[in-house]
Amino acid sequence: MALRDIEKNAGVAVMILLLSVWSLLGENSCDDAEYFITGQCCPMCAPGDRVNQHCDDKTGTSCIPCTQGTYMDHPNGLTECFKCQLCDLGLGLQEVKKCTYTSNAVCDCRGGYFCVELKGEGCGVCRKHSVSKPGYRVKENGTTRSDTVIEACPLGTFSAEEMSEKCIEWKDCAKLGLLEIEPGTSTKDAVCKEKSYRHRWVISLAFISAPLILLLLTLHFQGFVKVRTLGDVPIENNAPLPFDASSSENRMSESCDNQGKSEVSKQPVESETRKNNCKSTLPIQESCGLT
Ligand SMILES: *[C@@H]1O[C@H](CO)[C@@H](O)[C@H](O)[C@H]1NC(C)=O
Repeated sequence: MALRDIEKNAGVAVMILLLSVWSLLGENSCDDAEYFITGQCCPMCAPGDRVNQHCDDKTGTSCIPCTQGTYMDHPNGLTECFKCQLCDLGLGLQEVKKCTYTSNAVCDCRGGYFCVELKGEGCGVCRKHSVSKPGYRVKENGTTRSDTVIEACPLGTFSAEEMSEKCIEWKDCAKLGLLEIEPGTSTKDAVCKEKSYRHRWVISLAFISAPLILLLLTLHFQGFVKVRTLGDVPIENNAPLPFDASSSENRMSESCDNQGKSEVSKQPVESETRKNNCKSTLPIQESCGLT
């Protein structure tokens, strides 16, 4: 019983094997323009068409054209056309060749993207171009096949904006006759300041104040000190002033002008007082010297 079963199974196995070999041989024996199906060779459908019904003993292959959105790019024995690929804008792709009944659409990278995975004549995966930051410059623009080539700004230059085309040289404050108050960096220009402003201000002040001080000093020793000297003279008991205060300045200068010369003898007392004043107080002597 068991032995007969085994023989039977072996027989089936051998038959299947033979069938497989025959079918393989059969497939191999089909023409280039034929395909093997269900034990026979059928004529292929042309590109743009697909098989509607396989051939049989009586009729050849029945073909029908692909429908919109599908294509068949080679002679075939297939019952379905291929779906046209869609170009995903979100992935940086765009359609560069429309799908036809005989050819697939071609996608490639859209502006601002470059290909990282080629696919046929187009691209399958795109990536965004690198952006050059401040401190760098774009040496070469990106293409659909290459990323942006970015270069750091060399020392002494800067770029302040993204995607700068050039690195700009720092301002040379010294060359401009200015004072550098902030050195340049790769992203910022040097900051200069008008050197002369502060100097001019100081010089102007000095020019204005010097004569003013001189004037004040002059006034001080000519006027103020004299008044003080007069003030020192006692005025109690309604005693008459040694000389007329209102004309004191005239007289004083007179006395000063005539210093060394003999004094007028009209008013000996007054002149004596004045002489005393002139001699006793140093400031008046100085003031006399000045006039
Ligand atoms: C990059 O492209 C821009 C326009 O998009 C152009 O102005 C610039 O000159 C290009 N730069 C280089 C380095 O080719």
